[in-house]
Amino acid sequence: MQPAIRVRGVSKVYSEGSMRVSALEEIDLDVCSGEVLLLMGPSGSGKTTLLSIMGCILRPTSGSVRVAGIETTTMSQRDLPAVRLQHIGFVFQAFNLFPTLTVSENVEVALDLKGIRGQRARRQARELLAEVGLSEKVNTLPADLSGGQKQRVALARALAGDPEVLLADEPTAALDSHTGRTVMQLMCDLAHQRDRAVAIVTHDNRILDMGDRIVRIEDGRIVATQNVQGLLSQCSSQTSNTHSESADAAYTGAV
Ligand SMILES: Nc1ncnc2c1ncn2[C@@H]1O[C@H](COP(=O)(O)OP(=O)(O)OP(=O)(O)O)[C@@H](O)[C@H]1O
Ligand SMILES: [Mg+2]
Repeated sequence: MQPAIRVRGVSKVYSEGSMRVSALEEIDLDVCSGEVLLLMGPSGSGKTTLLSIMGCILRPTSGSVRVAGIETTTMSQRDLPAVRLQHIGFVFQAFNLFPTLTVSENVEVALDLKGIRGQRARRQARELLAEVGLSEKVNTLPADLSGGQKQRVALARALAGDPEVLLADEPTAALDSHTGRTVMQLMCDLAHQRDRAVAIVTHDNRILDMGDRIVRIEDGRIVATQNVQGLLSQCSSQTSNTHSESADAAYTGAV
């Protein structure tokens, strides 16, 4: 099986004047269709950097990143947005909704970027919002929604155009436990029922049991991989085996 995202030998050095910060070193990681991968690790360990590189928001200093089989590191800066638009949906901790647009319009903006407009966009926005349980809120402004509802709008927006990869950075951090699990369940359903690849950065111990695989990053390196459900997919076995010796020790007390 070909992974939806394949990261090999990825390193990232941030340069600021004479300062150089090595954020990632030699990362190998696959995210497969149908799996929910949780990326964990201390603050500053490189999780957001890795997610941004997987999502083609940020370029690695070295290494290879394939998205849906396409090598992205050799592409021009001009061509990268097309890969993002076609293959990847993003969800962020802070929801990032447009405050003056209704719930439906927030989703329609994302559809517009993918060339879907007018009646077709309105219909698809309603369908996406129905999937996340927000049919009643299509004409509501974000300010009148709860945190969980806002994150579900963000999720519907991320699913515009039906991308095969969903990347989420701390999507449940601003939510209470019950709401966080509801949002997490929607992302799990997407992976398991629609065969999408889902990678989620999280500090949230309350949702750890819901992922399929947990990858722990420290100081820019993968230090442990744990297969949560005991379901070792063909594609994930390669990266899991690389680090599995240290997994039990690393996750004692964390899961
Ligand atoms: N734009 C940047 N310029 C310089 N250094 C950066 C930049 N972004 C991140 N870093 C540094 O790279 C390292 C990894 O940062 P990153 O944001 O990926 O960590 P993180 O694991 O997501 O942390 P957190 O859990 O706090 O969000 C940190 O040392 C950080 O200070
Ligand atoms: Mg981060």
